Amino acid sequence: MNNLDQLVAQATAEFAAVGEPARLEEAKARYLGKDGSLTALLKGLGKLPAEERKSAGAAINIAKQTVESALATRREELRQVQLQAQLAAESLDITLPGRGERRGALHPVTRSLERIEQLFRSIGFEVADGPEIEGDWHNFTALNTPEKHPARSMHDTFYLLDEQGKVQEDVLLRTHTSPVQIRYMQAHVAKYGHLETMPEIRVIAPGRVYRVDSDATHSPMFHQVEGLWVGENVSFADLKGVVADFLRRFFESDDLKVRFRPSFFPFTEPSAEIDVAFMSGALEGRWLEIAGCGMVHPNVLRFGGIDPEKHTGFAFGMGPDRLTMLRYGINDLRLFFEGDLRFLSQFQ
Ligand code: PHE
Repeated sequence: MNNLDQLVAQATAEFAAVGEPARLEEAKARYLGKDGSLTALLKGLGKLPAEERKSAGAAINIAKQTVESALATRREELRQVQLQAQLAAESLDITLPGRGERRGALHPVTRSLERIEQLFRSIGFEVADGPEIEGDWHNFTALNTPEKHPARSMHDTFYLLDEQGKVQEDVLLRTHTSPVQIRYMQAHVAKYGHLETMPEIRVIAPGRVYRVDSDATHSPMFHQVEGLWVGENVSFADLKGVVADFLRRFFESDDLKVRFRPSFFPFTEPSAEIDVAFMSGALEGRWLEIAGCGMVHPNVLRFGGIDPEKHTGFAFGMGPDRLTMLRYGINDLRLFFEGDLRFLSQFQ
């Protein structure tokens, strides 16, 4: 074996012996690098006599190509080994079921609110909105609620603090949607001006309201839907007809009794509470209060900018949370606001 053959055999053996790509590159440098032994042989060609140079050059080049191809082969082998190791380490179990996507759905109370809006729109009501942070004037004074009325007490109402942390007695979370009556009447009068030719007001105002209250049928935050119809000869009979018809359509049932029970609100006169009872099913015969209502008090009409000598109206404030409890047979109001998906996903 001549020198060149020996060199090739040695290089090939060294390549085969290394197990890491970095070591392989070091071995390569020993033969093919700047100071590698094959490189040195090629550099030495110039010192050979001219007649030997050609054949020696050819032999060195062949040896060099052989080493290069041995190197390429080993590189590829090591790459494969590394790839297999990586594949084994990162193995994916493609038989595992995927995570799936869960579809969201509307909250049951939101569904009731949409249903209520749709039913009232169908009889010509508009849908209005009002702020949840209200002034004392809109929430109480303009609704004919006297200064010393118990609803104004700190125990019943959430007041807001000012920047110094002091209670602001005239800023609160609205305790009912009735302030929207005032806001809507004023806006209506501002829009149509002349009281004689003013079109009727027919509006509902759904939204969140707040009271210091918490048990199975009361939550500190709950919903109301205010209703207001003001026109030239609007009477208590209209109120009864609209509400009774709405309830039958809401519950999709004639199997329903509706009762107007005399009551008191400062902003209506006369006033009533509306109770419903089903004549069959789990809640058979049990009366449940679902709204307060009455004929809008003349003082309230005046605060709204409307002349009570020319116009009358009725108003109601319903509890859509209660309506939803009845519709789905739910016995604890708090379930609606705890955000537990096990409860909520039943209504999809
Ligand atoms: N605002 C009253 C309440 O929250 C309900 C109501 C509204 C009563 C309109 C009469 C008229 O209890």
